[in-house]
Amino acid sequence: MPKFYFESARVWKEPSVKKLLTDALNKNRYLKRLEGQQLKDMVECMYERTYQQGEFVIKQGEPGNHLFVLADGNLDVYQNNKLLTSIAVWTTFGELAILYNCTRTASVKAASNVRTWVLDREVFHNVMRMTAEARHEQH
Ligand code: CMP
Repeated sequence: MPKFYFESARVWKEPSVKKLLTDALNKNRYLKRLEGQQLKDMVECMYERTYQQGEFVIKQGEPGNHLFVLADGNLDVYQNNKLLTSIAVWTTFGELAILYNCTRTASVKAASNVRTWVLDREVFHNVMRMTAEARHEQH
């Protein structure tokens, strides 16, 4: 698969932001197993999205279309309407439904106005697929 398959999804960002996003993906217990180049491609394609206080970023039970990194503000995680925890800044969340094709395991709600970086599910899978196909072509 040619590189331009997700090339159009690239969004310019400050090198310092790229570093914070790469670190956030690398800290995640599932994503840290991916290759450096895959994480780099994913960081290139992330874009900003803001939420107002009280808005749901993720709703439990829904299909998942995005993976997120929290850049600023406070987010709470609820399961069956019970508060579980809060998400620290520069943490990845929403990865489970993207990685495992399951519905959202919890709700994530903005406890203040928040700024996030988002990666679309389709881009995530295209990056993964491209590496697999490049490897196939080598053999
Ligand atoms: P996902 O299931 O896609 O959507 C909800 C997200 O909340 C989930 O991915 C995790 O990123 C996060 N999440 C789920 N359970 C917990 C938990 N117990 N503690 C912290 N984060 C969680």
